[in-house]
Amino acid sequence: MTDLNLQNEAIQLSEKIRGNIDGLKEEDPLKTWFNIELDMIGVGKEDAALSLDEANARMRALNQLLHLVFKHRLRLQNPSLIGMQVDHNASLLTVEATVPSNVLESARNLRFSIEPALLHDPTQDNEQFDPVSPTAKIVGYLRGMDRTLGLVEAGRFKAEGEELLSKAGIDDPLTRASMAVLFQSRYRTINAAIASSETPQVVEFASGISPRGLQWSQMSPGTIYVESDLPQLMIHKAKLIRNTLMESSHESRGVLHCCSVDVLDRQSVLDCLGSLNADMSVSVVTEGLLLYFGEQEMRQFLSNMRALLHEFEDAVWVTDFVAKQNLQELFASDPGVARGVKQVFSMTGRSVVPSNPFEDDSSVEAWLNEFDLQVDRKFPLQSTTAMLNFDVPLAQEQRDRIVGSRCIWCIKKKPTT
Ligand SMILES: C[S@@+](CC[C@H](N)C(=O)[O-])C[C@H]1O[C@@H](n2cnc3c(N)ncnc32)[C@H](O)[C@@H]1O
Repeated sequence: MTDLNLQNEAIQLSEKIRGNIDGLKEEDPLKTWFNIELDMIGVGKEDAALSLDEANARMRALNQLLHLVFKHRLRLQNPSLIGMQVDHNASLLTVEATVPSNVLESARNLRFSIEPALLHDPTQDNEQFDPVSPTAKIVGYLRGMDRTLGLVEAGRFKAEGEELLSKAGIDDPLTRASMAVLFQSRYRTINAAIASSETPQVVEFASGISPRGLQWSQMSPGTIYVESDLPQLMIHKAKLIRNTLMESSHESRGVLHCCSVDVLDRQSVLDCLGSLNADMSVSVVTEGLLLYFGEQEMRQFLSNMRALLHEFEDAVWVTDFVAKQNLQELFASDPGVARGVKQVFSMTGRSVVPSNPFEDDSSVEAWLNEFDLQVDRKFPLQSTTAMLNFDVPLAQEQRDRIVGSRCIWCIKKKPTT
């Protein structure tokens, strides 16, 4: 079915954006990027009739682009607006665009936004460089084996994950399913932990190619989901998400915002708070990140988390800690899985097991205490293993042996006395 009014609106909006882009200087690098974006999503008079879903999707993407062009032009007109200073002589529109609650409001209307810097960063603009690590591709592939999750995984990463597993000699379907138990139960248990915290805002760091942000915002109207990773990765991820959103129609979605954050850089971590409402509660999520940190990185990271959690009255950090004891349990659970996991670790080029700073759960708690943090609740991975669905039969006992005593941890700041 076609809606000609909607198509006309999309044509007019495309022309308006083109006019705004034309006004930018030729040497402005963003001009090229905005034009590329508009060529992909714009609607012209000569275009064939669009389906209603397609026209709606284009309108959403066009509104997002208009917002980005508008913000960029404002910044060019008044460079001092970078940051939060408000010029008392500025026009109402200019002031509104610098106040976080209004930026949030406009993101809420559009329901999807990309940090403008991600659209063009000359230092990261290298198509030859693959920002997705082999481990992230393998995790993505194994997680996507659970079809009941209905994941929207990018086809290319799936094929590459499969190829990497084969190259590592992990071909046996039972071993693959057993390894998948780890990642699928981790994903589901983290979802359960976030849901139980009932926060209207979620920030995920190091999200990689995980589809959680997309799924969460599709299923939770009225919420805000900020997802982030290093800029090299987020540049690609944000566009993948945008393309996925354009292919489908979601009448009521939560807000999804993509930005770049380096979790080892305090300023970068705190900067992402500009997209959130500090008066509302928040869940902060990290998944599959901490296992690769040695002692020094862990100290820097925990100190950044302390700073972040103390910015909010009510904030919970949901994460997976993996201590040496958990790894020993895992290696003893199944010889195929032990071999597979060790292969994946070797792909990271890091000495994952010897560098792990935690002996067991009690040493994790001692570290948290040192950084003024404490455990609020723990959710065992075993609570979700029965829900997983594989092509090969996998006994419940085997599933539980693989995840062992591993838990998802919910961590809060210690109350000030
Ligand atoms: C093993 S992947 C896990 C990805 C995702 N959370 C998942 O479960 O599929 C680890 C991710 O951490 C990201 N990462 C590594 N160092 C980081 C840093 N300093 N700041 C933010 N992200 C980082 C990588 O880019 C990668 O996407």
